[in-house]
Amino acid sequence: MDYDKAIEIAENIYWVGVSEKEAFFRTNSYLIKGENESVLIDPGSIPQFDIVSKKVLSLVPKEQVKYVIASHQDPDVCSGIVPFKQNGFKFKTIAHSRVSALLLFYDKNLDLYNIDEHNFELTYDNGKKLKFVFTPYFHSPGAFVTYEPNSKVLFTSDIFGAFQKDWALFADHNYVEAMKSFNELYAPSKEIVNFSVKKFRELDVNTIAPQHGSVIKKDLIETMYHALETMDAGMFLENAEINVLKMEVMDEIPVNILSDIFKIVKERSETVIGKERAEEILKETVPEGTQLTYDLLKKFIENVKNENSLAIAVMKVPLVNYIMDNSTKLKGKVPGLVKEIIYM
Ligand SMILES: [Fe+2]
Ligand SMILES: [Fe+2]
Repeated sequence: MDYDKAIEIAENIYWVGVSEKEAFFRTNSYLIKGENESVLIDPGSIPQFDIVSKKVLSLVPKEQVKYVIASHQDPDVCSGIVPFKQNGFKFKTIAHSRVSALLLFYDKNLDLYNIDEHNFELTYDNGKKLKFVFTPYFHSPGAFVTYEPNSKVLFTSDIFGAFQKDWALFADHNYVEAMKSFNELYAPSKEIVNFSVKKFRELDVNTIAPQHGSVIKKDLIETMYHALETMDAGMFLENAEINVLKMEVMDEIPVNILSDIFKIVKERSETVIGKERAEEILKETVPEGTQLTYDLLKKFIENVKNENSLAIAVMKVPLVNYIMDNSTKLKGKVPGLVKEIIYM
């Protein structure tokens, strides 16, 4: 697959995003190509303008881009509206009014179309429709997703996004862990997540197209819905951390617990540093045949952290969950190392 070009993900719907080889966090933009009017979804950031616009212009002339959707106000999602305008694109910016209020700080003369003032719909290109679904606080107060009913594509912006060093445009089963590693940190709470997923379940969806990570095809959608519905997120982590920090420390960790923790740490590291690099660091830190010890595990974590400091953040939820689930085995104590990770 040539990621330097626009790629069709459904009929007349194209990925026009950015794929940097070295990144662990990439951004996706999409173009719905109409006959006369096209819609650009989440145009990306200012520094990415050249890449996204080149792909858009390989599909349609600039006069055809009549609408740009800003699913929320984050700079990675839509600061690119500024260079798009500066380069002669003339479009309406589609957003929720809670988002629009902030978009005006990018450009106070934006031609805005507020979905909440238009029955959460857009009619474009001689009668085609887009439906907008409000997903408040996931993760922005005005966040929404876009449903294209013809190809049944759901453009979900940050929802279903991922930290994913080993990226491919289309998701496979490994995507669950990558998706959780991002959404656990950005979703405010389980309640907020489930409010939105319930709305997605009411739609007939063939493809999920998020703003980070990979495109999810039909066969994996149920797995991804379930992963989000059962995932602990946001405030859970903050509260659980406080509880774990109050627990008494266990000095000696039983070998089986040590190896479980090691497994969690390694699996999560892979999402932000990649499987290959995680395995290299593992070999350097714990040479084959060496007995796993507390100190080696600690060294492994530090080496991973040196590679990407976010590795610590993405380890926390599964580690905290593990401690809670095994509290009887651990006699209500927390291994010192886990406590240290939480403080990191
Ligand atoms: Fe965001
Ligand atoms: Fe984002």
